[in-house]
Amino acid sequence: MSHKIAVIGGDGIGPEVVHEALKVVRAAGVHFEATDFDLGGQRYLRDGEVLSDDTLHTLRSFDAILLGAVGTPEVPPGVIERGLLLKMRFELDLYINQRPFLGIAPGHERPHDFVVIRENTEGPYVGEGGVLRKGTINEVATQGSVNTRMGVERCIRYAFQLAASRERKHLTLVHKTNVLTFAGDLWQRTFNEVAKEFPKVDTAYNHVDAACIYFVQDPHRYDVIVTDNLFGDILTDLGGAVSGGIGLASSANLNPARTGPSMFEPVHGSAPDIVGTGKANPTAAILSAALMCDFLGEHAAANHIREACTEPTEGSTIDIGNAIAARLHKH
Ligand code: IPM
Ligand code: MN
Repeated sequence: MSHKIAVIGGDGIGPEVVHEALKVVRAAGVHFEATDFDLGGQRYLRDGEVLSDDTLHTLRSFDAILLGAVGTPEVPPGVIERGLLLKMRFELDLYINQRPFLGIAPGHERPHDFVVIRENTEGPYVGEGGVLRKGTINEVATQGSVNTRMGVERCIRYAFQLAASRERKHLTLVHKTNVLTFAGDLWQRTFNEVAKEFPKVDTAYNHVDAACIYFVQDPHRYDVIVTDNLFGDILTDLGGAVSGGIGLASSANLNPARTGPSMFEPVHGSAPDIVGTGKANPTAAILSAALMCDFLGEHAAANHIREACTEPTEGSTIDIGNAIAARLHKH
């Protein structure tokens, strides 16, 4: 079967790393038809399109979206992030952001294989709020956080299902229930209720500030973590940093209900400072493509790709892509 993949290389190093990721997927024997979408900061500067409803409609007909990175220093913060990335997450209902940390960096002997499940459609990301008397000394800015029972519950249930399927069967809720008492209470109660459906899963709770200490000092305590959108954003950068660097951190923006395509992207950004130098590590994009293969039912290819990424590889972006692809050709 040939999968229809929409490719958004985006800005900066995005197109470079996505090119290597597609090379590796091809080498893994997965049949696909890739269609390029010219979107991101550079496209916006050219003709003003961020993500039109027409383009979004076209994207809906694909099996998956592979994205490199978007954002460019010439465009004010938020325009591309909200208008492209978050618009896809919200409109395609990609309510799970799954970010595995495999600990495959040199010197890490599989030290902490854990995964963060980040809620991806609510919290402070919804853009609720506003500003009054802008630019005056009486300026007021509010930024709300939306947490719905439905949104919290479907995220927590997904995390329990994932934890139940893993060897350790351990799930930690991370929040800030001692300060964010309204949202925290909804998350904790929902967590406790859903836990009853999964008696084999051991559970724990950490405040997000304490979780930052454990990520650095004792990551072995974690198997699966579930958390809200903003805490998940911050914690997964830290997760990348403590498990070999952001150049290895992959992510899947999932619509588990499969009412549309899911989107796969490295956690890192467009890194305009190193574009064209060959310094970008394509491994995060390659591992994101492995997550895509999993979601498309190509589990053998996904596992082979992950295996091929565990051997340390040196060199330029293209060298690393070629080396990983070459390991797969041997299968
Ligand atoms: C991420 C990124 C995005 C986020 C930005 C670019 C909007 O940091 O995917 O982690 O905050 O979710
Ligand atoms: Mn982030």
